[in-house]
Amino acid sequence: MSHLHISSHPLIAHKLTHLRQKDTPPKRFRELVREISMLLAYEATLDLNLRPRDIETPLATARGYELTDRVGLVPILRAGLGMVDGILQLLPEAEVWHIGLYRDEETLKPVEYYNRLSPPPRVSVCLILDPMLATGGSAVVTAEMLKRWGVARIKFVGLIGAPEGIQLMQTQHPDVPIYLAAVDEHLNARGYIVPGLGDAGDRQFGTG
Ligand code: PRP
Ligand code: URA
Repeated sequence: MSHLHISSHPLIAHKLTHLRQKDTPPKRFRELVREISMLLAYEATLDLNLRPRDIETPLATARGYELTDRVGLVPILRAGLGMVDGILQLLPEAEVWHIGLYRDEETLKPVEYYNRLSPPPRVSVCLILDPMLATGGSAVVTAEMLKRWGVARIKFVGLIGAPEGIQLMQTQHPDVPIYLAAVDEHLNARGYIVPGLGDAGDRQFGTG
């Protein structure tokens, strides 16, 4: 079973509370998605690989380090888009590979509409970015795409997960660790996370 990391960071708990609130306007909602994503990315990148690199300070030689992993950020459109910019600030050299999926409202299954992954991948680790892990269908399909592309290490980074989606990801991709800000109670009949935050795409882009 894959590693499930639920953040216990007080800043994340505080910001997530404002994010969930129904009267938080899109501008503030986008800011909070960005800020929480940065904090989660800090936790999801704790095991990136480094190599030693000696540098000169004004006083002496010092042992430094540089990342050897090449990171790919993989936002699932639309809602994952809001998680990209903050994480790019931490990882300015990351590549961004967009995946377009939407959920069929009847079946709740993901429908693919954009995928331009061009082999071979130059990245050694990919972070799938999507605020909501609901049924888990979108995350599972995206991890399959990245595996077919040839990426060795994949992680999922999201804001809120439902038990159903976490279980599906852990069953289908036991090698993909999951990083979340919170796990909620259940899915409703329309596949929305309860209590959740509503529709993450609509709330970011003012389309609800
Ligand atoms: C939402 C969300 C995820 C997906 C999660 O996307 O951003 O991609 O649902 O649900 P799942 O775990 O059941 O697959 P949506 O289909 O609403 O598209 P949007 O981001 O374009 O609004
Ligand atoms: N997608 C969302 O945006 N919200 C949910 O609660 C579930 C799927």
